[in-house]
Amino acid sequence: RDGEEEELSHECKELLLSLPKEKGWRTSHLYKYQGFWCQASEIQSIISFQRHFQASETDVVLTTVPKSGTTWLKALAFAIVNRKRFPMSNNNHPLLTSNPHDLVPFFEYKLYDKHQLPDLSNLPQPRIFGTHVPFPSLPTSIKKSGCRVVYICRNPFDTFISSWHFINTVKPGSEAPMSLDEAFEMYCNGVIGFGPFWDHMLGYWKESIERPHKVLFLTYEDMKKDVTFHLKKLAEFLGFPFSLEEERAGDVEKIAKLCSFESLKELEVNKVGKSIKYFENKNLFRKGEVGDWVNYLTPRMVEKLTKVLEDKLGGSGLSF
Ligand code: A3P
Repeated sequence: RDGEEEELSHECKELLLSLPKEKGWRTSHLYKYQGFWCQASEIQSIISFQRHFQASETDVVLTTVPKSGTTWLKALAFAIVNRKRFPMSNNNHPLLTSNPHDLVPFFEYKLYDKHQLPDLSNLPQPRIFGTHVPFPSLPTSIKKSGCRVVYICRNPFDTFISSWHFINTVKPGSEAPMSLDEAFEMYCNGVIGFGPFWDHMLGYWKESIERPHKVLFLTYEDMKKDVTFHLKKLAEFLGFPFSLEEERAGDVEKIAKLCSFESLKELEVNKVGKSIKYFENKNLFRKGEVGDWVNYLTPRMVEKLTKVLEDKLGGSGLSF
């Protein structure tokens, strides 16, 4: 299957033999690497990323659990930090002709997924990257340097439904779809890419409290409720605050509109092609709503996941 057939190094194959393994969602297995569940090819790329990436002070690293709003955050951050180069008045904005994942590459799916190391020296400043790697497993230079980290967190009920839909959409037609029940049990046991999701969230949450200048913790739901406010907050955190003049010119709202679900989904570039390995761009845009889970989960499922959240996140200050 995709992602598994690729050539793994001898070192990676050896490592896989020593790791706990479970049935996967898309690939046949997930392996527990440094406390989180990953596909074999992801582990190989993550190890290369951990060994070789050198952060610079001005870098921006966007971090998420899959299906939490990664595409949206990448678009917003790109538009914010590049607005002098690509003003909002410009109708050739790169976001109109490139998918956000092409403008803000993933470490593990784009930059470190090959046997050859990437040359990152010529990327425009500030460099912006994306990753699903949990905080404790980020390369030391990201954790120690002055580079900034932004995390977007989404209500696990919605992330679950979004993940389940996504997996069934990208599965080849020849394979049986994954049932909601089976996916739900795995999710509640933490077995999902980069899960357990609660540990992922808590790692970044804790860091955002201890080092608020280093890690900004945003939620999908807050951003949906008031995108202008959070867009300004993001711009300030990244060191690119909006001037009064820009605010008066409506630039904040223009960025919000350009990066909105409705705008991105309708662009030709987001209806065709593959910007992330294996995945068609069109599948990155489904509903973009808060609370869609009510249409799928049974009362028993709601009760169970609520209990998981209480057990795992209770007392952390993080709630949904
Ligand atoms: P749904 O499946 O609930 O619609 P990710 O980008 O991390 O893969 O997350 C995908 C989720 O974000 C999907 O949620 C997708 O529709 C939604 N999404 C994609 N682009 C968005 C945008 N610009 N604004 C808000 N949500 C967006």
